[in-house]
Amino acid sequence: MNQSVYLALDFPSWEETKQFLQTNQLNGVPVKVGMELFYREGPKVIENLRENNHSIFLDLKLHDIPTTVMKAMRSISKLDVEMVNVHALGGAEMIKRAKEGLTTGHPNKTKLIAVTILTSMDKQTMNNELLLPGEVDDKVSHFAHFSQSNGVDGVVCSVYEAEKIKVECGDNFLTVTPGIRLGGTEVNDQKRIATPAYAKSQGTDYIVVGRSITNAENPKKAYERVVEEWTNGSIV
Ligand code: C5P
Repeated sequence: MNQSVYLALDFPSWEETKQFLQTNQLNGVPVKVGMELFYREGPKVIENLRENNHSIFLDLKLHDIPTTVMKAMRSISKLDVEMVNVHALGGAEMIKRAKEGLTTGHPNKTKLIAVTILTSMDKQTMNNELLLPGEVDDKVSHFAHFSQSNGVDGVVCSVYEAEKIKVECGDNFLTVTPGIRLGGTEVNDQKRIATPAYAKSQGTDYIVVGRSITNAENPKKAYERVVEEWTNGSIV
């Protein structure tokens, strides 16, 4: 079982999720649970996945006032997931309190990850809508540095920023990269995309793959192709 390829379970219910995993014999693979599924099913979905030995990245992208985030993380810490995340844009105090909530009173292995600039965003949107001037990779570096100095274990970024972050923040600082597409599949709403093979060449730690697998005619085969490209570092 490859432990670095996280399958994004962007389904509307546990029933559909379970059916997808069973039909495609994907029980036990590392998975990412996002807002769609968690807001519908709640913590029960995490327990269900745990029972089937899935490693879980809980992608709720918390972004609120520091105390609220700290208390939310205190609740999340009891779920014992592998990774959970906050938006770096929430600021230093919010990140520090998130870490506090995750670790105080319930020390566990859950890693805290900060989202930098979403992979669905390009330079133009970042400059013109968020009014953040300059290049995307410079902003990602900035968010990575300041998140690291406030206690996170790694960041979510695109494959195009992963190598630079490793050089600047050190090899142990984790990079989690969505925006992964198999050749010949739809880009959808993502902007900074790359193949699993390219992700491997850039030294990222984890890739997150959703629609290239879930929308494929044969999801099982698509999953295997992702793992093969990621493992061998060459396009199959
Ligand atoms: O279908 P696709 O492969 O684009 O799915 C990517 C998944 O990763 C989605 O669930 C999305 O919410 C998530 N994600 C992302 N960009 C981030 C953080 C998470 O695309 N910065």
